[in-house]
Amino acid sequence: MKKEYRAADWDRYRMDMRDPHRELEPQEDEIAVVHAALDMLVSEGILPHSTYDHQKFLAHRAAVAEKFEIPWTAITPRQQRLIYAINAIAQPRHMLAAGVFCGNTFISNAGAAVGPGAVYTAQSLVGVEIKPEEAERAERNVRRVDPTGVARVVAADAVDVAGDLDHDLHLLYLDADGDAARGKGIYFDILQACYRRLVPGGIVLAHNSVNCAERLASYLAWVRDSANMRVSVNVILDGEGLEVSAK
Ligand SMILES: C[S@@+](CC[C@H](N)C(=O)[O-])C[C@H]1O[C@@H](n2cnc3c(N)ncnc32)[C@H](O)[C@@H]1O
Repeated sequence: MKKEYRAADWDRYRMDMRDPHRELEPQEDEIAVVHAALDMLVSEGILPHSTYDHQKFLAHRAAVAEKFEIPWTAITPRQQRLIYAINAIAQPRHMLAAGVFCGNTFISNAGAAVGPGAVYTAQSLVGVEIKPEEAERAERNVRRVDPTGVARVVAADAVDVAGDLDHDLHLLYLDADGDAARGKGIYFDILQACYRRLVPGGIVLAHNSVNCAERLASYLAWVRDSANMRVSVNVILDGEGLEVSAK
């Protein structure tokens, strides 16, 4: 069944993709809109609570702004806060992120466990990027905030990495844009490849649930079928969207 949380101003909230660190609204407004979305994820049984450390999040945001080389990103400040908060609350022991480009989306997830925004200890946080030069840049960026190596980026096809997992998976983040034939439809292939590893209660985050909804139609239909995923909510804080599903 289709469920959604939609911010009243989602279609007026806009970011320059080449200037992602600029503040778009007062902090308290950003906190409130993300909090409302988290509350819905709690009421749907996806998250146990909606509390996260705001100061730690700001430390994470500052480190990324200072240390990451980001040519462009579609991750808005609201989306960055939402993804960080979901990870800070769910605390996935093993996290896999597919299609991480320069690493900004990856660290929005992993930053809850490594670097100055860390609030828990994870076992493995792996970002996958198919273009070797982008994977190298992402790995360089990540090393600047996480000297431990718990968070790392590999150059590979995310379908293969997902299929080869030999451990439980607690959170999967999907952002790969595939090849000409599949485009973002590749989300479905990646999820299928590691579904058996996803633990009960495990979370899947799919970016672009709004602006790529057509290409993601099969994926969205599948995760919104409770025979496959227990519950799924389309969180619409900006024009990109994030489908949040739990097994
Ligand atoms: C559109 S970018 C994601 C950018 C991200 N939304 C942001 O705003 O920072 C998608 C990335 O997925 C990568 N990609 C495409 N197919 C992939 C695959 N099969 N495995 C891993 N990465 C893949 C592309 O090379 C590209 O860097």
